[in-house]
Amino acid sequence: MKDHLVIFDTTLRDGEQSPGASMTKEEKVRIAKQLEKLRVDVIEAGFPAASQGDFESVQAVASAVKDSTVCGLARAVEKDIMRAGEAIKLANAGRIHTFIATSPIHMEKKLRMTPNQVVERAVWAIKRARDFTDDVEFSPEDAGRSDLDFLCRVIEAAIDAGATTINIPDTVGYNVPNQFGNLFKALIERIPNSDKAIFSAHCHNDLGLAAANSLAAVRNGARQVECTLNGLGERAGNTALEEVVMAIKTRQDIFSVDTRINTQEILATSRLVSNITGFAVQPNKAIVGANAFAHESGIHQDGVLKHRETYEIMRAEDVGWSTNKMVMGKHSGRNAFKTRLEELGIDFETEQELNDAFIRFKELADRKHEIYDEDLQSLVTDNNIQRVENEIYRLISLKSSMGTGEPSNAEVVLWMQGEELSASANGSGVVDATFKAIESLVQSGTTLELYSVSNVTNGTDSLGETTVRLEKGGRIVNGMGSDTDIVLASAKAYVNALNKIAGEQVKDHPQASV
Ligand code: KIV
Ligand code: ZN
Repeated sequence: MKDHLVIFDTTLRDGEQSPGASMTKEEKVRIAKQLEKLRVDVIEAGFPAASQGDFESVQAVASAVKDSTVCGLARAVEKDIMRAGEAIKLANAGRIHTFIATSPIHMEKKLRMTPNQVVERAVWAIKRARDFTDDVEFSPEDAGRSDLDFLCRVIEAAIDAGATTINIPDTVGYNVPNQFGNLFKALIERIPNSDKAIFSAHCHNDLGLAAANSLAAVRNGARQVECTLNGLGERAGNTALEEVVMAIKTRQDIFSVDTRINTQEILATSRLVSNITGFAVQPNKAIVGANAFAHESGIHQDGVLKHRETYEIMRAEDVGWSTNKMVMGKHSGRNAFKTRLEELGIDFETEQELNDAFIRFKELADRKHEIYDEDLQSLVTDNNIQRVENEIYRLISLKSSMGTGEPSNAEVVLWMQGEELSASANGSGVVDATFKAIESLVQSGTTLELYSVSNVTNGTDSLGETTVRLEKGGRIVNGMGSDTDIVLASAKAYVNALNKIAGEQVKDHPQASV
């Protein structure tokens, strides 16, 4: 019998801490349902004390998800633990994850607390969390740079206080595999009550070692790995779920553990996360990148055709590639559309929303012959974009022109808080002209940090998905748009980003000092 490795997904919490990746409640619920389908054991749904919106998002995920444990993060303070406890109340299985920093630099410079005070606070927080649930996880933040003797002391006390999972974060991505593996070995051997808790690895990818460090931890006794889809997360991100899960599945000769992940759902989940957050997946990304299974060189192709294992260590189908079937077309009816969306985990709150989405589907089917699941995901996300809360700007129409040796021009009509206004601008291309025309109306004072376009499926009639990242006063948002016309997709993404930056709530960062 192999040990079970708990897969703890923190896309909705640590992933969301990535500047620009913030998600609405509806988006979080959609991702959470897909994570449930992927069969992750634990979904860390957010940091409920950050804002009322974050609290409601965790609560909504807790109500929507039945088969995975839903977890809320809390600093080791009363307000956070109470909020997390309330937010997970409706979950079938709920967990509170509380943490406090234990490295000398964090204790001295951030917390301004002595080691004794830190141990005392950790014990208090765990006991308080146990008032809400029996499933309590404790993290000594920045464990990767903490003193081993002190870590042993605080963890022993944490387990005595009732922590059932001990998570070891390499908060700043400083560790290397040997060292991180040895840390687990030492902790498990030296802490007298270590058999009373599951040890967990939480790695950041600053040196590109997050997956390697997590796997080293598993080799040395970790039985939970914390990860995100596509490695989403602050700075260089977190451990990528798809990399750890597939390494374990592919190298069963090395890892004596099993996960319950339905690996065929990996690609769909990766796409949904990228689609909603606007963080594109690089083509050469392991497992989920467009080139991950494309054997382009002639020699490789020949080898693969003759005997698959010559150059392939995993089957593309096992992670959800090539399930890319044409699902719908021009003649598909409303019922078929609704059923397929339900299969994709997409529900609508009202009939009106479903009708709007169906109209958009028909419009798309007029322009595009074959409609794939990815198109439907994109279409529905874009439909959500049109329903942003507190909408301030809406694109009414766009006309653009360009020609060789002529300036590109765009004319836009924008709805702005009840008024329709139009503007025209020239630019170095039609997208540039469009953004300039919109800016001349809105005068947002934002800086464009990123503009990217990718195709959802193959072919020149594919939907183009556009991401626009705007910055203002240190706040960053990603706006998304999709359309078979990439200029229109770009305009939608720009307007979406403007709405987000105007309406974004101020929220606490969990790792800032209390
Ligand atoms: O990286 C980290 O230390 C964290 C903690 C909140 C667990 O994300
Ligand atoms: Zn983290």
